[in-house]
This record gives sequence, C-alpha cells and structure tokens, in this order.
Amino acid sequence: MGTMRLLKPLVVSVSSLFFVALSGFAHGFVMTPRSLINRLSQSSYYLTTKELWFDQTLDHYSPYDHRQFKQRYYEFLDYFQVTDGPIFLKICGESSCNGISNDYLGVLAKKFGAAVVSLEHRYYGKSSPFKSHTTENLKYLSSKQALFDLAVFRQWYQESLNLKRNRTGAENSWFVFGVSYSGALSAWFRLKFPHLTCGSLASSAVVHAVYNYTDYDKQVGESAGPECKAVLQEITELVDRSLETNKKELKEQFGAAELEIDGDFLYFLADAAVVVFQYGHPDALCTPLVEAKKAGVDLVAAYAKYVKEYFVGTFCVSVETYNQKHLKNTAVKEGSSDRLWWFQVCTEVAYFQVAPSNDTVRSSKIDTKYHLDLCKNVFGEGIYPEVDVTNIYYGGTNIAGSKIIFTNGSQDPWRHASKQTSSPGSNAQSCNIPDAVNKVRQKMIEHINLWLSECKGSGWHSM
Ligand SMILES: *[C@@H]1O[C@H](CO)[C@@H](O)[C@H](O)[C@H]1NC(C)=O
Ligand SMILES: *[C@@H]1O[C@H](CO)[C@@H](O)[C@H](O)[C@H]1NC(C)=O
Ligand SMILES: *[C@@H]1O[C@H](CO)[C@@H](O)[C@H](O)[C@H]1NC(C)=O
Ligand SMILES: *[C@@H]1O[C@H](CO)[C@@H](O)[C@H](O)[C@H]1NC(C)=O
Repeated sequence: MGTMRLLKPLVVSVSSLFFVALSGFAHGFVMTPRSLINRLSQSSYYLTTKELWFDQTLDHYSPYDHRQFKQRYYEFLDYFQVTDGPIFLKICGESSCNGISNDYLGVLAKKFGAAVVSLEHRYYGKSSPFKSHTTENLKYLSSKQALFDLAVFRQWYQESLNLKRNRTGAENSWFVFGVSYSGALSAWFRLKFPHLTCGSLASSAVVHAVYNYTDYDKQVGESAGPECKAVLQEITELVDRSLETNKKELKEQFGAAELEIDGDFLYFLADAAVVVFQYGHPDALCTPLVEAKKAGVDLVAAYAKYVKEYFVGTFCVSVETYNQKHLKNTAVKEGSSDRLWWFQVCTEVAYFQVAPSNDTVRSSKIDTKYHLDLCKNVFGEGIYPEVDVTNIYYGGTNIAGSKIIFTNGSQDPWRHASKQTSSPGSNAQSCNIPDAVNKVRQKMIEHINLWLSECKGSGWHSM
C-alpha cells in the first residue's frame, strides 16, 4: 500500500466480516503502510512471489496507439484441479503488488480447487509504462484502463492455459476478488465484463465516487464515541490556535517540521487519529487521551506522543507521505504510489476528506480548497476530479451489476461510500461476532459455489 494518507478507502476494521474472513487479503495490499508491507513480504506471508510478465496495451481506447508495457502478474496453481477448476482473479489495487498473499482467498482456492492469478495495477509497483510519472505520462492511469487490462489479461491467460493443455476455445470459470479500491474494481469488472467472470467479491468497495467526503470525519467521530471525540475536538482547536502563534515549535513537537503547508500538517494529524478506528484498536488512542484529559495535562503533548510513538513509531507511517513536495516527485520508485493514488483521487474519485461544517473532529482548514490546491500544485492546472462522470460511467451506488457480493465493516469510515446492500442474489452482512462471521463466510462460499456452477451450466463459457 502506498504509505498511506488515509485518503484511501479503508481496508476493513477488525470487527468487520472481512478482516476476519479475508484477513491478510484485506490488509495485504490496500491500506498498510509500505514499511509494514516490506516487513511482511519477508515472511511466509505469500503463496507465491514469483514474478511473471505480460505485454499489456498502453491505451485500450486509441485506435492508433499500439504501444505496450510490461505488466507484472502472479499465479498459484497448487490447488488447481487441472482440467476444469475455476480461476480466481485477485485484483491488485493502488500499491505495489508483491505476490499472492497467504490469506482466506487461499483457503477458498483450496476449497474450490481453484487457480489464483493476480495482476498488478498499471503504473504501480513494477508495472509502470513510463520511466517518470510526469502528469503527461499519467494520462493512461485510470480505473477504466485498469479494468480493460484485467479483461485483456484474463483472455490471454485463458488462451495460454488452453494452449498448454492442447485444447482450443475451452473456458474455465472465473471469479474476481478485491478489497477497497480493488473491491470497486472487482464490482466494476463484473459490471463491465459480465461475460468474463461468473461473479465478484467486492469487500469495502468504494463504488460511489464522492466529492466532499464529509462522512469520513463523521464516522471517525462516531467510532471514537462521545468522550474520546470531545477530547479529539479539543485537541483540534488547540492545534489550530497554536498554528497561528507557534507554528514551528508545534510542527517540531509532532516530528513533522518538514510539512511546510499547514494543510499537509493538519491532514497528517487527522489521519493519525483515523488509523486506530480503521484497524480496530481505538484504545491505543482514546485511552491515553481521555486519561490526559482527566489528569488535566497538556493534551497537545499527549497527542504528539501518540502520533510519534504509535502512528509513526508502531504503524510506521512516514511524515513524507503528507508532504506535497514528495507528491510532486515524478521518479518511479518505492513511494511513488502516493503520487499515483493522488492522481486517481484528483481525476476520478475525489473522496476529499473535508471537515464537515458542524461537529468536525478534524481541523476545518482541511476543506475542499485544500484538496483542489493540492491537485493543482502536485499535478498542474486543470486537474480536478470528474466525480459525476465517474458515477455516470459505473452507476455509483446504483451499480447495475449482478452476482456481486458486497461486504463492509461497521466501524469503517469508508462504509458510507460503499454500497450498503448486496446485489440481487446475495445478502452478505457485516457483523461483529464470530458466529455471525462464520455464517457470512458460509453464505459467501454458497454464492461463489452457486455462481460458478451457474456459469458452467450457462454455456457462455464454451464460446
Ligand atoms: C495435442 O493435440 C494434437 C492434435 O490433436 C496431438 O497430435 C498432440 O499429440 C497433442 N499434444 C499433447 C501434448 O497432448
Ligand atoms: C464541496 O464543498 C464546497 C465547499 O463547501 C462547495 O463549494 C462545493 O459546492 C461542494 N461540492 C460538491 C460537489 O458538493
Ligand atoms: C451540530 O452538532 C451537534 C453535536 O452533534 C448537534 O447537537 C447539532 O444539532 C448540530 N447542528 C446542526 C446545525 O446540525
Ligand atoms: C454495511 O454496514 C452497515 C453499517 O454497519 C450495515 O448496516 C450494512 O448492513 C452493511 N452492509 C453489508 C452489505 O455488509
């Protein structure tokens, strides 16, 4: 995951279905800070990390441009029932895709005798078509192109499998999976290419693009509960005031002197609070702050301690991620996914995490203007999100795709952007108790099973 900036859709909170159901799958790629990912990738966290390459078309929408680039993918065939097992396409999202992680999807693959293949998202990781990420070069970075990549890859993979097996025109049953942004891609893939997959699992899928995403902050307030929220709000006020008089010392106190733009600094502080709710550890934040409040000690100092020790120290988030200077860096390297994801935010999906006008937890200086200024500063004049167009294209929460399982997490600040009910033919729910989790898992397996078998019977696959 890009070192974060929690502008990204949430993975899922611990209490939610999918953290349990798809655990590593869920936090493997999407929201975990890069440093954490790096550590995890050195363990036996993956089913495979063997890189494979595919020649992908750069621009699927141009009749003239036939340029190609190398796109990285992975395959895991240990559980594959050789002749007609299903193929699970695990969609990688907005970060480097370093392998196929060993998580609940692996369990499902074993159960269904499925092959697992995973394609890195264009531009991220090692799948960049260009040697530098200038704004001009980013023009082929979009969810539309990414979906087309998946479709072309899926066809090619099926054909090469047939070739290996010495058969022609055979079709295995495919199923797509994703979480968060890749969850949205998973749902959209079934929507746009229903003939290429039997169904989709879309966990915490952010299918509805939102411009001013004030609900994000509201959810943080709700997850914190009244007592903790009040302390957080008091800290926000103190910090806002201190920025007027004491800017340099204040930023130093948080180890964030490099963040010259006040909005970047405030965004960093806001994200620091969010992370505990996203990952289901509210006590790491609320316990020390509420205690500090009761003891009447300096709240800003208590928050600074938390930010440095937990957010930066334990969670390994780097301050640089919040620095627009860093986001302007066009070099293709570790860390460039921050710039790439902001480009997608600034062109397609927005999700500007602006402060609500009433009862905000974050600083009200994190407003629409801050985000638009960032888009302009980082990518240049004329870059702003076409949210309405995105929602016209995919349907937003009225997405008309079938055979898609949507799931979310109850404390997930992103849940308001995801579809709250599942599409016809499914009824997964989020829940907090293991028994219910098991039930939902069972339901999920039943749906995958049903849709895979319907797919086989339908005859479309033998085209
Ligand atoms: C592939 O099919 C051809 C034609 O039917 C046959 O001659 C050949 O032996 C087959 N090869 C394999 C590896 O099955
Ligand atoms: C977003 O909020 C800004 C500032 O409140 C407002 O001017 C703008 O119209 C809003 N945009 C949308 C699409 O809601
Ligand atoms: C603002 O938020 C407070 C606290 O949640 C609430 O009591 C009040 O009704 C809200 N005011 C408006 C205008 O929404
Ligand atoms: C999503 O979360 C909301 C709030 O917790 C819940 O009411 C809803 O049923 C959930 N939907 C799904 C599909 O999990």
